[in-house]
Amino acid sequence: TGVFTYDPGFTSTASCESDITFIDGEKGVLLHRGYPIDQLAEKGSFLETCYLLLYGELPNKSQMDDFEHRVTHHTMVHEQMNRFFTGFRRDAHPMAIMCGVIGAMSAFYHDSTDISDPRQRMIASLRMIAKMPTIAAMAYKYHVGQPFVYPKNDLSYSANFLRMCFAVPCDEYEVNPVLAKAMDRIFILHADHEQNASTSTVRLAGSSGANPFACIAAGIACLWGPAHGGANEAALNMLSEIGSVDQIPEYIDRAKDKNDPFRLMGFGHRVYKNYDPRAKIMQKTCHEVLAELGIKDDPLLDVALELEKIALTDEYFVEKKLYPNIDFYSGITLKALGFPTTMFTVLFALARTVGWIAQWKEMIEDPRQKIGRPRQLYTGAPQRDYVPMDNR
Ligand code: CMC
Repeated sequence: TGVFTYDPGFTSTASCESDITFIDGEKGVLLHRGYPIDQLAEKGSFLETCYLLLYGELPNKSQMDDFEHRVTHHTMVHEQMNRFFTGFRRDAHPMAIMCGVIGAMSAFYHDSTDISDPRQRMIASLRMIAKMPTIAAMAYKYHVGQPFVYPKNDLSYSANFLRMCFAVPCDEYEVNPVLAKAMDRIFILHADHEQNASTSTVRLAGSSGANPFACIAAGIACLWGPAHGGANEAALNMLSEIGSVDQIPEYIDRAKDKNDPFRLMGFGHRVYKNYDPRAKIMQKTCHEVLAELGIKDDPLLDVALELEKIALTDEYFVEKKLYPNIDFYSGITLKALGFPTTMFTVLFALARTVGWIAQWKEMIEDPRQKIGRPRQLYTGAPQRDYVPMDNR
């Protein structure tokens, strides 16, 4: 009954009204609360962007100090949580660990289930932003078989995260400020992106009134796929597979071949029909990181630059408006920072957590909010009578 519009992939359905993020895909514009992403990434910090996404305005100095203090206050995870990690196979993919552990946080913070209380909503939000780096670093340490490193709260958000990932016991570890800045910028670039698949998943899960940690776990599950957040891992694997510049034409031909499922990972976007503005900043950050680390000739970067050049002038890519997206250069940068490919999507999840929370909060606080309940166009059998098994 009823007439419903068929819109596979929601290409023309607005699922909500939102004040948080604006994208003009034709022009390649991305604004958070009105501020262009390049300004936030070049001049601001990730925690400042978190504040902006959550509260709608950039913080003044005392608001920022207070926010930083409150986030820092929540960086530790309950010691019992360590046991969750040891329950996973030691070769578990860190994204599998993230889905499980973040969902399990709902069992550690029962008070967060009362989403009608604005105070509880805010504490749950701060806890997630604060604990995500700790848990992501624990997933990494578990994955590589090293002991967990606890947060050191006099460091910045991103420096603390790098230290939790790369410090080893009995060894001095100094965070390189240039690399910490690059990490922070990468987090800013991933912080929010309006109603993408994982954010819509978080909103849909949250629309039933579910516990916010469980909703974020649902977002992490959705992000994992190679068409979404998993593309950064897939893009680097692809660049490694291509291996050298002379192999590129073969892969370009494969990407154009309708009978070959291969796609150029890190290319194309549902909304951007122009250069993804995040990809430009990511490319610059990539060069900065390689320069800081003294990596002069990265063969993967050579392949990436050449691949981009060829694709941007190829008729197929031009006609379909396929440009590099954020994931194209993030993989090379994250690899240079020392992360294995299996951690790439975890870093995306860490940064996107604030976007998921801001969108979840906006939805819960909207008086018109209803449970999400898409309809369908039924194409199955008409009503018919049950046939006993012997007669089938
Ligand atoms: N390589 C080759 N052809 C492509 C590519 C690509 N990367 N992306 C799209 N196309 C073609 C596709 O075959 C289709 O051709 P046709 O119209 O002849 O059937 C056309 O372009 C439109 O593609 P679509 O799949 O209908 O577009 P979509 O909006 O549903 O998909 C996308 C968007 C991002 C899933 C897709 O471009 C893709 O799979 N890209 C590779 C994966 C990737 O880099 N994902 C990261 C996205 S950005 C970060 C994030 O969201 O997490």
